[in-house]
Amino acid sequence: MPREVRDACAADAAFATSLRVPGSDGWLGRLVLGGNPQMLRAQARDSALEFAAEANGRRYRNPMLVAETGTKAGISVDNKLGEPTVVHWHGLTIDTRNDGNGETLIAPNGRFDYAFELFNRAGHYWYHPHPHGATARQTYRGLFGILAVEDDDERALRRALDLTPGVTELTLVLQDRRASARNRYMPAPEDVLFGWYGDLPQVNGSVRPFHAVGARRYRLRLLNASNARTYRLAFRRDDGAGLPFQLLGTDGGLLGQAIACQQVFLAPAERVDLLVDFAGLPRGGFVLLESLAFDPMLAVSATQAARSDSTTSSAHAHGASGAPAAPSGLADGAPFPLLQFRIRESGAAGPRMPASLSRLPVLPAATGDERPLRLGFAKGRWRINDRVYDTQATPIEVARGASEIWLLRNYHTSAPHAMHLHGFQFRVLERETSPDQLAPLVLDGKGRLATDLGVKDTVLVWPGESVRIAIDFRHPFSESQLYLLHCHNLEHEDGGMMLRVKVG
Ligand code: C2O
Ligand code: CU
Ligand code: CU
Repeated sequence: MPREVRDACAADAAFATSLRVPGSDGWLGRLVLGGNPQMLRAQARDSALEFAAEANGRRYRNPMLVAETGTKAGISVDNKLGEPTVVHWHGLTIDTRNDGNGETLIAPNGRFDYAFELFNRAGHYWYHPHPHGATARQTYRGLFGILAVEDDDERALRRALDLTPGVTELTLVLQDRRASARNRYMPAPEDVLFGWYGDLPQVNGSVRPFHAVGARRYRLRLLNASNARTYRLAFRRDDGAGLPFQLLGTDGGLLGQAIACQQVFLAPAERVDLLVDFAGLPRGGFVLLESLAFDPMLAVSATQAARSDSTTSSAHAHGASGAPAAPSGLADGAPFPLLQFRIRESGAAGPRMPASLSRLPVLPAATGDERPLRLGFAKGRWRINDRVYDTQATPIEVARGASEIWLLRNYHTSAPHAMHLHGFQFRVLERETSPDQLAPLVLDGKGRLATDLGVKDTVLVWPGESVRIAIDFRHPFSESQLYLLHCHNLEHEDGGMMLRVKVG
């Protein structure tokens, strides 16, 4: 058995808490959106923040809002935080008024009535605060939830594989926290620069929980709600052997077909939908979900950061000792176990995997030239095309009905950036000059990984890498709309690595 697995399981104390499974109420409980507007109250609870909701006599915290494609959703957010906030619906096809991009805020004790139609295909989208400069703090302190959209493909999959949400379909939220600051957000200069990394990787709010499973297939729907941490997810059996799994879907829903994988990277804000098969494993054994080691490629050196212009009023103030050298907390790329599945009964293989899961939207031919977007660092701040967020400037203007190809190019001396676009799902066309550590995950001649083959709203771009994405900018709104393109490392985002995008 590899040493890290042995260490992780040496003491049962390593997996002493049972996994919190979202059910029909409580934390992340399934709350089906109905005809009447649903109230979400943003409030403090103990030292944490939460969205509280009530419906049909049940109480929820950070509910998983469930709705069918085509539903007209009404959600009223009541701000009891004592500071401004706003809620962004991550991944949705939505107009600017409802997008929650942070340019209009909900004042303390104020309320905002969101009203929008769900145009998206089935998938786990999510919601989180987006007040510029406070997004990282409010999200870290616990304010986020899932918006689960369902449709016929989704129901067909559950039927074919006999999946029941909360039983054999589990939602897993990854978020790392600081032992020294569980619900407090107090970043040092290095955290502001690189990202706020915790030292306690949590799954559904617990550190290294366990979960008893039957020897059958389980669907795992993961959201990386961490501020900055990327996970390299893999499963390992108790004899040390890797357990391959099937990738069913990505940010924007199901793939065309399931793809067999050994591991996937999951950057901040990304989602993956996985199928793992415990059939044939011995009763009493276990399987670990873990994050494997990788090179975090945080290549901005201390000297480079020190060269930053100290006269700017940037959020990236440096400590008296000079420039930040590395993020604190558990290092990005450090390996650790996340969750232990305990096999409580043996069993046989279940129903056959359906040959096709869904149909991906057809991409129209690109209109116009490729749009280059360079990701880099200068004068103490992370930038897109050398710019930082400015509410007076709209550097990207897209013509109505356009279909564009964007070339996201990350400098060699940089950090990985999880690039996210509001309002649209996109497709990854190609990866070039990727770091060597991606090589074992590459599936096709275009350098793409399994997670690149689905519908996406967030894509990780490594230092030195170029990623081409295709975006169909047609939308159902009569007026032109304003969106955002930003890095979803929340410290990079709050520091200004974000541009306005106007779509005609
Ligand atoms: Cu989840 Cu503007 O982001
Ligand atoms: Cu978003
Ligand atoms: Cu970034």
